[in-house]
Amino acid sequence: MLQNIDRILEEARQFKAETKEEVEQFRIKYLGKKGILSGLFKDFKGVPSEQKREVGLKINQLKQYVADRIDALLADVTEESGNEKTVDLTLPGPPLRSGARHPVSIVRNEIISIFERLGYTISEGPEIEDDWHVFSSLNFPPEHPARDMQDTFFIEKDPDILLRTHTSSVQVRVMEKESLPIRTISPGRVFRNEAISARAHCIFHQVEGLYIDENVSFADLKQTLLYFAREMFGKQVDIRLRPSYFPFTEPSAEMDISCQICGGKGCNVCKYTGWLEILGCGMVDPNVLEFNHIDSDKYTGFAFGMGIERVAMLKYQVRDLRLYFENDIRFLEQFQAAY
Ligand code: PHE
Repeated sequence: MLQNIDRILEEARQFKAETKEEVEQFRIKYLGKKGILSGLFKDFKGVPSEQKREVGLKINQLKQYVADRIDALLADVTEESGNEKTVDLTLPGPPLRSGARHPVSIVRNEIISIFERLGYTISEGPEIEDDWHVFSSLNFPPEHPARDMQDTFFIEKDPDILLRTHTSSVQVRVMEKESLPIRTISPGRVFRNEAISARAHCIFHQVEGLYIDENVSFADLKQTLLYFAREMFGKQVDIRLRPSYFPFTEPSAEMDISCQICGGKGCNVCKYTGWLEILGCGMVDPNVLEFNHIDSDKYTGFAFGMGIERVAMLKYQVRDLRLYFENDIRFLEQFQAAY
């Protein structure tokens, strides 16, 4: 009996079908009411009890094999009958997914293009800097908290090598090597030793600007920033300057723009003040000019600096900074750029 089952199994293995009908005949031959398997189950009754276990197992395996084989044969013949499906070469190809620029790049390019229209050049510099370019030449006193490990990432101490905390360092490099007048913006990545939260990140991007010439006044600064704000956020925008402090500018100010959500009436975005802070600015401190061998009796200048993510937050109303760094495609693909 065991040999007989082996022979049947082998025969089933050899079987090939071209059409559904042939598979159906195969099914009837093996699994039909009067088929081979039902015959085997009948014979099984006469098997001596000590062989029942082994023979029963074999018959069941055979039955399972035949059932699987039928499924496989059916899949084969239906696939082949799909031959009638010809390829239509005139159909358009599947659409390509087009990429989108990162919101930080979109906003950076927009800021750059606004200042380019005012005749500003673009300057870049190293992210790993020395103390002179980030702090000392910018009039930071020796005990200033930014020089602390808590606020700045140091790579080496004595001499101090660190990750730049602002792109003002690039402007120092421009003052060192370029002739006057200087009118430049420096976009770039900066680093601060901050705990990451919705409102702060240890890496972010800035655009800082510097203009040095004879007779540059605070009025020039104010008009430049008003032009920028209206190009960036719309013609209806107002600005306001609040006195502030930076070691490298005197006088210094922080600039707010009128809240675009409530039009200045007060809402939860502007915390009911009607204003949103956007950048720091001021007249370049004469000390900074002198440190960089520029005659502060003859020349004056202004400087300003803004965080790109901050401008993006105001522009897109995405108020968790971390989203700008996670590279989640579902977030990124929502941004469309003209630049
Ligand atoms: N460097 C300042 C900062 O990183 C911004 C700034 C630039 C302020 C120029 C005033 C003038 O916060």
